[in-house]
Amino acid sequence: MAKVLIATVKPFSTEAVAEVKKVFQETGYDVEVLAKYPDQSDLVGAVADADALIIRSDIVDRAVLEAAKNLKIVVRAGAGYDNVDLKAATEKGVVVMNTPGQNSNAVAELAFGMLVFLNRNGLTPAAGRELRGKKLGIHAYGFVGRIVGMIAKGFGMKVFAFDPFVDKVIIEKDGVTCEQSVEDLYSKCEYISLHIPANAETKGSINFGLMNLMPEGATVVNTARKEVIDEAGLVKMFRERDDFRYLSDIAPDCKDELEEQYRGRCFFTPKKMGAQTAEANLNAGVAAATQIVSFLEKGDTTFKVN
Ligand code: 3PG
Repeated sequence: MAKVLIATVKPFSTEAVAEVKKVFQETGYDVEVLAKYPDQSDLVGAVADADALIIRSDIVDRAVLEAAKNLKIVVRAGAGYDNVDLKAATEKGVVVMNTPGQNSNAVAELAFGMLVFLNRNGLTPAAGRELRGKKLGIHAYGFVGRIVGMIAKGFGMKVFAFDPFVDKVIIEKDGVTCEQSVEDLYSKCEYISLHIPANAETKGSINFGLMNLMPEGATVVNTARKEVIDEAGLVKMFRERDDFRYLSDIAPDCKDELEEQYRGRCFFTPKKMGAQTAEANLNAGVAAATQIVSFLEKGDTTFKVN
């Protein structure tokens, strides 16, 4: 009988775990849940006899893959898979998948939650600012970017996007203006919402030169990954532009410096929580479970990323 390990340092909701278990009960698989584990060695130990693994931002490095002698598939219940060593997985013959789109709405809603929070001075009575009529640039028009665009229109914002991997026709069909270069996007928009993945090309790519193109009132909201920001450039932006503001779902390494010196112009969530809703847990968890069953029973490799 196949064994599935659900390893989530940041636990799924109780309801999501129950629904995920139900999927596996129907196929007769054994399920073990390893939630909120204090040390990476716990994952290394627990994975030893697992045939399949469901994770969130949990680290699946070479050590985990070496320890997992029976492992055939890892599904990252979510979008970004920068936490998985794809090269090691491929070498070991382990299939890696994500569950694209399943937690996107939660992330997109958080971007606006943070924007409103900052624009209203942390929900204090001081006079704030509105989003209506402002220009929002969506940097990468994937699942999250698209929902961000829809919500932005509800706020009455003018919406722009740049994504070299998405056809202009698709972007413009949504009533979003497609920019031809990343520089055009940043030059035009006082608000930028980041939705690029973290990879060798994008890490540190949001730098001073790019952010400094933004017009007066420049505000960057990052619900993607902290690594895509060049932190030296970020600090320089705060130092040189007193209109600049930065929001991030998971704090940058320079958090203390920014919070001390630029209070009111930045906000960081204490833990990455963009996808932490009951709905997103359920959608991504059940999708991961279904993909595992489909792969183990039928060899279905839809959403394979390695
Ligand atoms: C993702 O890549 O899907 C999001 O960043 C959510 O990550 P999480 O599952 O760790 O909350």
